[in-house]
Amino acid sequence: MDALRSAAISQPNIATSYLRKSTATSVNSINYSPSWGSRKVPMKSVSGSSSIGVVRSQVDSASYEPADMSLDVSVSPRANSLKPSKTMAITDLATALVQSGVPVIGLAAGEPDFDTPAPIVEAGMNAIRDGHTRYTPNAGTLEIRKAICHKLTDENGLSYTPDQILVSNGAKQAIMQSVLAVCSPGDEVIIPAPFWVSYPEIVRLADAVPVILPTNIADNFLLKIEDLASAINEKTRLLFICSPSNPTGSVYPKELLEKIADLVRNYPRLLVISDEIYEHIIYPPAKHTSFASFPGMWERTLTVNGFSKAFAMTGWRLGYLAGPKHFVSACGKIQSQMTSGASSISQKGGVAALGLGYAGGEEVATMVTAFQERRDFLVKGFKELKGVKISEPQGAFYLFLDFSYYYGAEVEGFGVIKGSEDLCRYILEKAEVALVPGDAFGDDNCIRMSYAASLTTLKEAMQKMKGVINFLRPSVPV
Ligand SMILES: Cc1ncc(COP(=O)(O)O)c(C=O)c1O
Repeated sequence: MDALRSAAISQPNIATSYLRKSTATSVNSINYSPSWGSRKVPMKSVSGSSSIGVVRSQVDSASYEPADMSLDVSVSPRANSLKPSKTMAITDLATALVQSGVPVIGLAAGEPDFDTPAPIVEAGMNAIRDGHTRYTPNAGTLEIRKAICHKLTDENGLSYTPDQILVSNGAKQAIMQSVLAVCSPGDEVIIPAPFWVSYPEIVRLADAVPVILPTNIADNFLLKIEDLASAINEKTRLLFICSPSNPTGSVYPKELLEKIADLVRNYPRLLVISDEIYEHIIYPPAKHTSFASFPGMWERTLTVNGFSKAFAMTGWRLGYLAGPKHFVSACGKIQSQMTSGASSISQKGGVAALGLGYAGGEEVATMVTAFQERRDFLVKGFKELKGVKISEPQGAFYLFLDFSYYYGAEVEGFGVIKGSEDLCRYILEKAEVALVPGDAFGDDNCIRMSYAASLTTLKEAMQKMKGVINFLRPSVPV
């Protein structure tokens, strides 16, 4: 694993946490943060004040002497307290390993392996050629907001006007802005676990308090009403619902959502963020229902959606929020000071995506069929592995597998597999397959495998994984 180590060294931030044990000496010996003082460097020749209207004097580069380099490089407590996204870290590590010659199969990333459908690409290229290369309105062009309104009416039974839509630079931004717009410091936000990695961090960024509500694999990782009821109190401001779910692939049935709506209705302060970004990647007989469609829920639901997953447009950075105008306007205000409108070119691509037909038409249906075929292959394959518990995903493109049967196993030359991080490290080192530890999603019993990879690749990964997992002997036989 020399190449693995050298990649770890070239990507220190990513690697330190993930390859902590195996690369301890090489990675930790790199001193990235010598004992920085908190003293500020007296910046010679830089004068003036930052108040508006005061002209700062020119910096004379000749007289600028970098005399004291003990610059204060500390970062804010807010930035310090944030956990980096493990999914991104492992994906970047897998890429670095591949670049350094290790034939790692990357099944960590949360993005489709398909290219963006041709009509969308064409629309993006035409947008550039036709001069749609300027700022758009902060909330998005009227053209795309109208198209989103039509989509929400036709596919989700939801009625919105363009001023109730905010187009953002990806759904992640829509979520961040929603939390920032509605949460006051100390407000509680209920996040069912397993959760998408960013939810708790976004909540913390807003000075709100994430309240993690665990679910069970035996219940297909779906919320139990009684658990939800006991988690709500007068401080609860938000509830996250993600269906189909990342990382579990669970889809909330309409009847359960209805019960959640009946409960939520009793609490005037309680709003819901319904993250529907995987709505089109769903396998029959599962059906997607929008939370805002239940009586009384439109008023309190912030519906988040985007183009990244269904339309294979992760790099276009395009998402949106639909909700009551007072909330959407507040989110728009934040966006106007943070990033302004989404890319003009991407918005043209988004209009083309929404023009592909119901639920993305043939283009999206072809991808969903491929995902379903892969899911079926993997579920069958993992069912053959002793001790592994599976909740068959009904949507999205992830398997969230309970491997806790193998925890406690000791491998010669590797050590004891104590949890999901050890197991993923073991699988990465021995099988050269990159997965994400479940602890990143709030469930250490599990590991997440993305099946956004070809069937051939998945077959190879399965074979390699089975090869190394067969070496593990659980400490306590079940
Ligand atoms: C559940 C969920 N919501 C939101 C997002 C954000 O998507 P994007 O910002 O690419 O639109 C992701 C991406 O992984 C996701 O999995």
